[in-house]
Amino acid sequence: MKNVCVLVSGGGSNLQSLIDHVQNGTLAVHLCGVIASRDGVYALERAKQNGIPYQVVARKDFASKEAYNEAMLQAIERTGAEYLVLAGFLSILGETVIHRYANRILNIHPALLPSFGGKGYYGLKVHQAALDYGVKVTGATVHFVDEGTDTGPIVLQESLAIAPEDTAESLQQRVMEIEHRILPRAVSLLVQGRLHVEGRHVSIEEEER
Ligand code: GRF
Repeated sequence: MKNVCVLVSGGGSNLQSLIDHVQNGTLAVHLCGVIASRDGVYALERAKQNGIPYQVVARKDFASKEAYNEAMLQAIERTGAEYLVLAGFLSILGETVIHRYANRILNIHPALLPSFGGKGYYGLKVHQAALDYGVKVTGATVHFVDEGTDTGPIVLQESLAIAPEDTAESLQQRVMEIEHRILPRAVSLLVQGRLHVEGRHVSIEEEER
């Protein structure tokens, strides 16, 4: 089974969804490690409860960006990762990691990229921005990670219709349900070698029936 390391910064509900899919047999990977960008986040608790090795690599603990990037690379390699999943990870990955794991890093974003993505669009801000703009649909995107923020080739997207009574909080919750479905599916496709990237385009090799 392929080794997948999950990078987190928060509650870790997407991490939990990966764990659940592994446990119910719908995602055939080995979750080899969890790396958090700060201590005390609930995602670490989830790793602990499920016997997944975890580490904390916080930017504030390093004097320079270079030292942080190097520590992050070492932490990732220590897990034996073949693939990386950014599941609510709010730090920036160094270019060495991005290049070493080219086309092997997925990120989940709670909007339909390229809308409401990039620097500053995280958490409730994403959903508030969608409401403020007045869009009628939103959703979630799984994409490959490149050097930009939320700019890599898109793997899966799923949308929902915004209701007049939606708030940022209700949207976050409804979009989360989509995230918990499409992230495990994208990871599964990736580790099976069924995602083919050509420029910005990702084609999905369908399963034989
Ligand atoms: C999710 O909405 C994800 O799309 C975004 O950050 C949030 C993380 O939530 N990048 P969780 O930590 O997985 O619960």
